[in-house]
Amino acid sequence: MQRVTEPELMLKASQVNAYSEADFSSSDNQLLEDFEKFLMDSGRELGLKNLIIDLGCGPGNITELLAMKWPLAKVVGIDGSEEMLSVARRRRKDLIQKYNLKGLVYFQKNISSIYRDQTTLDESAHAVVSNSLLHHIHNPSIFWEAVKKISLPNSCQFHRDLRRPYSTKEALVLQEKYLPDAPKVLKDDYLASLHASFTVIEVRDQLLMAGLDSLKVYEVDDRYLEIKGFF
Ligand SMILES: C[S@@+](CC[C@H](N)C(=O)[O-])C[C@H]1O[C@@H](n2cnc3c(N)ncnc32)[C@H](O)[C@@H]1O
Repeated sequence: MQRVTEPELMLKASQVNAYSEADFSSSDNQLLEDFEKFLMDSGRELGLKNLIIDLGCGPGNITELLAMKWPLAKVVGIDGSEEMLSVARRRRKDLIQKYNLKGLVYFQKNISSIYRDQTTLDESAHAVVSNSLLHHIHNPSIFWEAVKKISLPNSCQFHRDLRRPYSTKEALVLQEKYLPDAPKVLKDDYLASLHASFTVIEVRDQLLMAGLDSLKVYEVDDRYLEIKGFF
């Protein structure tokens, strides 16, 4: 199946509401577990004043988990959609009251502006995480250049995304399996995302072109790929 891109930013109110109200907790918690295991297996720790960036953070579901796991670190969620970030910031208010997560902050930035700008963030990241972002980016080399730009040398990279199925038929099976009762807008977005996503081989080529071949790409279950390593 050929890749068909979808709009990069999620801006429509109906789309943002459906996405932020959906319960992705089981796959989000799985990502956090995999990330922790990856750090542990690599003998790495994240702690006081380390900067963790969650690119394409959306409503902050994973950014929040990172901030709760590493409360002494600075955890920055970045997204180009102000609509998504307004949900993330609203949720942040509650979390600060409940858990005192002062290190959790959000910035509105487009990946392409991170790639172009000379000055992007005040500090570089010890770890960069993203979930379900790469497939949104029309030109993936811009994503990888942005990742390089915001990362400290030898930073930890952990990116998970959907993997493109072989056919539309297979995409429809995944849609029915994972979102059987979701609102139509979420189901449509999911199908579009499956069509926009990359294969493992395409991502390996992207990494090679970007000089990021120290990162490895893995197939995970029937719908994800994971990219991890140090750069
Ligand atoms: C599918 S959501 C994923 C949200 C969150 N990471 C999660 O795991 O639930 C993708 C997010 O990436 C953002 N995004 C897409 N393209 C972007 C770009 N070029 N720059 C910044 N954010 C982008 C969208 O606005 C959206 O909030």
